[in-house]
Amino acid sequence: MTLSRRQTVLLTGASSGIGRATAHELAARGYRLVLAARREEELAALARELDPSGSRVVAVPTDVTDDTSRRALVAATQEHFGQVDVLINNAGVTVERGWWWDDPDPLRVLRVNLEAPIELTRLVLPGMRARGAGHIVNIGSVAGRVPFNGMYSASKFGLRGFSQALRRELLGTGVQVSLVSPGFVRSEMTRAARLPMPGPEVIARAVAGVLERPRREVVAPRAYALPILLDAALPGLVDRVAPLVFRRRYAHERGK
Ligand SMILES: NC(=O)c1ccc[n+]([C@@H]2O[C@H](COP(=O)([O-])OP(=O)(O)OC[C@H]3O[C@@H](n4cnc5c(N)ncnc54)[C@H](OP(=O)(O)O)[C@@H]3O)[C@@H](O)[C@H]2O)c1
Repeated sequence: MTLSRRQTVLLTGASSGIGRATAHELAARGYRLVLAARREEELAALARELDPSGSRVVAVPTDVTDDTSRRALVAATQEHFGQVDVLINNAGVTVERGWWWDDPDPLRVLRVNLEAPIELTRLVLPGMRARGAGHIVNIGSVAGRVPFNGMYSASKFGLRGFSQALRRELLGTGVQVSLVSPGFVRSEMTRAARLPMPGPEVIARAVAGVLERPRREVVAPRAYALPILLDAALPGLVDRVAPLVFRRRYAHERGK
């Protein structure tokens, strides 16, 4: 079943980048939104900008790695709008500088990118199953298809496996699961990357597209289908390119 407009969307990671762009896109399409992220002021300002009346868009400051905070988020959504029709697991982090094994807490990447989506899904799924309708949308990454950063790829391969298995587990129940896998787009996460990148709106439109028509996986921008194909067909060739990528990214760290 395709979910119609004016449904309630719980969107994590709404304070910047892809989440912020998605909030704009979905608000313009008439969805009711619950915006979640840790930065309270950014979130509240965005909610006011999208809906000065405060009746259709609400901000709920949330740390998705915290169980109490996740439960409060779902409870606030139910209190404001009755139910969660769509959960978009977009909040994400990476190890931004240096090698992941030098980071003091690399497992936070798994907590934000993988554990939180699973736990939020566990919170909203019973209601969706009881109603026989709902949609879980996970924001993966091309890094969940073409591995480069051990910790980030572990989280995104995991999220992809979770999405696609859950989709199969829920076939016939009326609850949909879609995965949107972005390539590089401009956001706070990629601000140090020296690459030509489109804005996050391209991903926001892909998310809006899967709400209209649920999909197993959508890769956006579409050009990233090529590296995915290349890594699947000729991983040895990608191995040869990998040291060049790392040398460029970690030039300051050489030798570690
Ligand atoms: N940009 C890209 O090129 C790219 C490519 C592939 C996949 N992605 C994925 O796209 C998603 C969005 O990333 P982005 O590029 O838009 O990066 P971004 O601008 O850094 O946004 C990340 C968002 O996640 C939120 N967040 C981080 N930790 C959180 C926590 N513990 N609790 C609640 N919210 C948290 C941040 O909000 P607060 O800091 O306010 O909490 C922020 O809103 C991520 O899942 C990322 O892995 C991005």
